[in-house]
Amino acid sequence: MKILGIETTCDETSAAVVENGRRVLSNVVVSSLKEHSKYGGVIPEIASRRQLECIQPVVEEALADAGMTLKNIGAVAVANHPGLIGSLLVGTSFASALSASIRKPLIEVNHVHAHLYANFLLMPDGDGSKEIPALPAVGLIVSGGHTSLYLIKDFKNPRLIGQTVDDAAGEAYDKVARILDLGYPGGPVIDELASQIPDTDLVFSCAPMKDSLNFSFSGIKTAALYHTQKHGKADRQKPQIAHAFQKSVVTVLVDKALEACRRHKAGTLLIGGGVAANSLLRAKLKETAETQGVRFHCPPPVLCLDNGAMIAGLAYRLKQ
Ligand code: KG4
Ligand code: ZN
Repeated sequence: MKILGIETTCDETSAAVVENGRRVLSNVVVSSLKEHSKYGGVIPEIASRRQLECIQPVVEEALADAGMTLKNIGAVAVANHPGLIGSLLVGTSFASALSASIRKPLIEVNHVHAHLYANFLLMPDGDGSKEIPALPAVGLIVSGGHTSLYLIKDFKNPRLIGQTVDDAAGEAYDKVARILDLGYPGGPVIDELASQIPDTDLVFSCAPMKDSLNFSFSGIKTAALYHTQKHGKADRQKPQIAHAFQKSVVTVLVDKALEACRRHKAGTLLIGGGVAANSLLRAKLKETAETQGVRFHCPPPVLCLDNGAMIAGLAYRLKQ
């Protein structure tokens, strides 16, 4: 069955057609990110106004790219939470009107769970997981709004087993980037700056949150702030700060994700969300999971960000 997936939870407007929860036939993503960068974060009003303008052409393009018309679509899927309320309203109103007009089911999907489902998709160019990940799996969500660990025995009931008690990992990246005047979003710039040097003596630490699978990232952001207030933020100092920050964040994410696999006897580790595109995080999870006998999967970078394909994919799994 071919499902049309619609995603409008944050600043993106996305639509995709996915066959049988696996093969992505099209995935169109339009972002209003540039319009938000001068404000240092997403402005909900700007996001939803752009989504209102874009939603219809984006859906039409997704159908055309897949070589389909609405007649070929078996169901309409939409991300209905969590997200910005105005943005969610645009997607859910459009999707429910569309499903009613073509008399096909409407399937509502949790956007965070869908980020983990991105590991099951195969892109038209062959990118993506060649094998279907085995369950039970631990899923690490790292985005601008969430940092959570889930135990997934089946996608109908993912169990939350850990989460941040304050900032999300992506939020910490964005705040440190702001401290360093690197613009928004901060993750990709810090990722690139950190990789410019092999190592640094500078150390920032994340609160360990001992004996729990929870995270805390607000302290490390404050440590970076105090450091720059004391030592300045000249261009030559930025790679050191980025490197020290990224090393500590990645270490805690990797340690907790693998601890979760051990505690819950899961042989598979999945990641998702914008920070899952981070080069060091991907490399370290792969390396550490291998040494611990855990099968690690990560979506192609394009499927780490918000997209309609993951919504259509998970919808297929939920309706089975
Ligand atoms: O999943 P996403 O598109 O939006 C939410 O649903 O929150 O994630 C956006 C977040 C931003 O905080 C951005 O800075 C971060 O993902 N990000 C990265 C990288 N690319 C995007 N963080 C670290 N390294 C990256 N390469
Ligand atoms: Zn997201």
